[in-house]
Amino acid sequence: MKLKLFHSTVLLFSLFSAAASAQDDAVAVDRGQKTFMRVGCYECHGTDGKGNEAGTALTPDTLPPEAIANFIRFSPGRMPVYPEEVLSDAEIEDIVAFLESVPPSPDADDIDILKGLTPEGE
Ligand code: HEC
Repeated sequence: MKLKLFHSTVLLFSLFSAAASAQDDAVAVDRGQKTFMRVGCYECHGTDGKGNEAGTALTPDTLPPEAIANFIRFSPGRMPVYPEEVLSDAEIEDIVAFLESVPPSPDADDIDILKGLTPEGE
């Protein structure tokens, strides 16, 4: 009986932690999206990070947080460099959480209104 009680307590506790950590993730994703907009990443990478004429796609297949942080701090190319005072490491982690949360785009042929409008083989 005691053991049963112990098991239910452990089960309840794990359910509770899983729910709490999913909530933490959602909060990080939300903060990350706001930062992505606030510091202008969206201007060159699109509001969903899928890229546009100005910048590359950052999602799907988001780089690991260290690689992204490194690029942001020491961009060798056309991208502006963001120092720690402008964008903290924690904010970069949130941005990564946001980018990882963006679902992949559907195939053009899976979008009803586009069916048959895309050229053969594309
Ligand atoms: C003024 C346009 C511009 C802005 C603003 C910008 N980027 Fe970029 N970014 C680029 C371009 C262009 C590249 C492609 C590499 C190059 O030419 O330097 C790039 C590359 C990257 C890469 C490397 C991608 C890869 O696969 O190698 C990451 C990561 C990245 N940007 C993240 C960000 C984040 C996060 C922000 C906001 C904090 C941001 N960028 C803001 C233009 C921009």
